[in-house]
Amino acid sequence: MSKLDKILKLPGLVDVHVHLREPGATQKEDFRTGTMAAVAGGYTQILDMPNNTPPTTSPNALNQKIDLAKGKIWCDLGFNFGATASSTKYFRKIENKVFGLKVYMNQTTGPLLVESEEDRDLIFKSWPSSLPIMVHAEGETVEIAIKLAKKYHKSLHVCHVTADQINAIENAKKENVLISCEVCPHHLFLNQFDIQKLGPFGLMKPPLLSKKDQEKLWSKMDKIDMISTDHAPHTKEEKMNQPGPKFGVPGLETTLPLLLKAVEEGRISLERLIEMTATNPRKIFKIPTQKNTYVLINSKITYKISNKNLFTKCRWTPFVGMEGRGEIQKVIIRGKTVYENGKFIGRPIGKVIYPRI
Ligand code: NCD
Ligand code: ZN
Ligand code: ZN
Ligand code: ZN
Repeated sequence: MSKLDKILKLPGLVDVHVHLREPGATQKEDFRTGTMAAVAGGYTQILDMPNNTPPTTSPNALNQKIDLAKGKIWCDLGFNFGATASSTKYFRKIENKVFGLKVYMNQTTGPLLVESEEDRDLIFKSWPSSLPIMVHAEGETVEIAIKLAKKYHKSLHVCHVTADQINAIENAKKENVLISCEVCPHHLFLNQFDIQKLGPFGLMKPPLLSKKDQEKLWSKMDKIDMISTDHAPHTKEEKMNQPGPKFGVPGLETTLPLLLKAVEEGRISLERLIEMTATNPRKIFKIPTQKNTYVLINSKITYKISNKNLFTKCRWTPFVGMEGRGEIQKVIIRGKTVYENGKFIGRPIGKVIYPRI
């Protein structure tokens, strides 16, 4: 068993995969509440996904997000751009403003499905940047993405990796494909059995794994580059829609406590936790470093995760009832305390960030 110091000082955590829902679906989340959830969970830099309605697939849509975010965000926020055949014409215009290009190769929330072989090829061919092409590619679809990354020598990031995909990714790494992948907390801490209890609140893409595949993911943690929350809030009403519940679960406020509990249980080391939630995402996505930015945590406190006291606008979590470890005492960004003992302090001092080039 690894022993945690009572007061832990961690770097601000980094999450390259969050859905803050502004504009278009601010009944679920917005830039203010989403970044509050981030800070309350120990994150100080996050990257927003483009599957809004309307999607972030033009310079105008991107600039609109940047303008909307300014003055409202509690942590630093960057953006990923959405890929469609027709958004390829904007790639050179926006490449210095975004951290990744997101390609939805299977159906999920939002209007951004890219299914045709021709469009996928054009997108991979056209991406001018060395920053990652991030794919939502479930199951074997990941092999199509790997082929395209190989063909056009592009950097590829596999979102929400599942156990069945690790071998293909490992093989690509051996062939010197520039490839990284992320695992999500719901795939690590929940499995198919939880759907009985959670109902629609246990539905997301890709779906929860079998117990066996969940364990396989844990055994492959040394092959996975980072942990991303895929924070994907929907309102309780939207989750209970019959038929057709929305897919996705929130995760920003529960990931660190679940991981610290796993550290205490010896399932992951604290060093590896820091690599997977801060060092690696920052390196792979060329996210700027933050001076004098850290999180202080009382690691001796354990508690039952609950739907109360959440800052996410959706106000529920699929991890309800599970034990979390660690109470965040303070979050300090650029020397300023922004969060202390459950309360936000002063003004939202988060900045819109751009990649280091
Ligand atoms: C995400 C969402 O709701 O935006 N949903 C999900 O189930 N993960 C989209 C996504 O990441 O696929
Ligand atoms: Zn996805
Ligand atoms: Zn070649
Ligand atoms: Zn997502």
